[in-house]
Amino acid sequence: MIYLDYHATTPCDRRVVEAMLPWLSDSFANPHSDSHAAGRQVAEAMNGAIESIAGAIGAPASSLLMTSGATESINLAMRGVMTHPRNRRNHMVVCSTEHPAVLDVASDLQRSGVEVSHVRVHPQQSGGEAAPGTIDLDALAAAITPDTALVNMMLVNNEIGAIHPIREVVRIAHAADALVHCDATQAIGRIPLDVAEMGLDLVSASAHKFYGPKGVGFLVAGGGERRVRLRPQIVGGGQQQGLRSGTMNPAGIIAMATALSLAKTSADPHGGESARIETLRNQLWDILRGSIDGLEINGPPLSDRSSRVSGNLNFHLREVEGETWMAAAPGVAFSSGSACSSSDPVASHVLLAMGLSESQARRSVRMGIGRMTTSDEIELAGRELIDALQRLRLT
Ligand SMILES: Cc1ncc(COP(=O)(O)O)c(C=O)c1O
Repeated sequence: MIYLDYHATTPCDRRVVEAMLPWLSDSFANPHSDSHAAGRQVAEAMNGAIESIAGAIGAPASSLLMTSGATESINLAMRGVMTHPRNRRNHMVVCSTEHPAVLDVASDLQRSGVEVSHVRVHPQQSGGEAAPGTIDLDALAAAITPDTALVNMMLVNNEIGAIHPIREVVRIAHAADALVHCDATQAIGRIPLDVAEMGLDLVSASAHKFYGPKGVGFLVAGGGERRVRLRPQIVGGGQQQGLRSGTMNPAGIIAMATALSLAKTSADPHGGESARIETLRNQLWDILRGSIDGLEINGPPLSDRSSRVSGNLNFHLREVEGETWMAAAPGVAFSSGSACSSSDPVASHVLLAMGLSESQARRSVRMGIGRMTTSDEIELAGRELIDALQRLRLT
């Protein structure tokens, strides 16, 4: 199996596994047991890891909450801000191409009375300066009202790899005194993230997207100029200042810190890993384009490094549906432009939001290239994908 689905998840880096192992069965004490040395030793290592995460993303350690992953972080950020008893504002903005982890929380809050505005992105055929799939900043400015408490804006889109102009979003939101929550799940390890410099108020992430283990993530809440008040969503033992109860996960947190320190060098757009991944991505695109007619890129141009992450490929075929192609090429793991959470796959809301037709969205695929991908794998995958399409056209 050739794995080309790095946006869905990444393998845990061996160095991360090594760093994590001692904290599973050798030093296993509860980090909240401060009555004995074993507990204090684990707490010290875990707190050191949290300091290291904070340093890597430019946020104070005191603003970090450890969670089970981005979905939990996002729930805590959005529900936490909007339902806090001292929050007097009842309006929230989301970008229309957010991950369901954001959109579904927004819908749920909407059902309980919160007003939600969805802001459009630039269409595929924009014709102007703006990169397709990135947020329309004029529409954002128009959507924000004096009642807006929170603007939810992802940094990198998980389907088309579009990099949103987050500093501009922050400037517009802060001018109206609204907080910004950034889902940085797909950004970490791909592009630099500096919470303080970007002016972000809340940031969500998951370790498994940057070569860490699944089931651990973080939320940055506050720590900058603006005060962030969160209503806890999980209550219990009062850990993490009562904002996220439950025994913390020292092995996972230490692993996440290790993964992040490895990712920090990778995220340099001019650095070795990003450049290598870009070369592989372009190699795959050239192979496919060389043998298959009518392929069209979805999202920003591949050459636009400031608007698209290097390992992402998303395009549509002329006649075959993505799901069909995937089934015909079982040796390559990639994903289609439809979400198959049911027997009747629905076309991607991201592609539809960019103005692609339902049919184009169904004929779309997403491929993600990452740290462990090799040039030989790209060659093999390209061959299998082309062969599969030729077989489909003959039948
Ligand atoms: C942009 C984005 N946000 C949130 C999530 C949710 O992450 P998790 O499933 O780790 O909670 C994902 C995962 O695909 C994602 O890509």
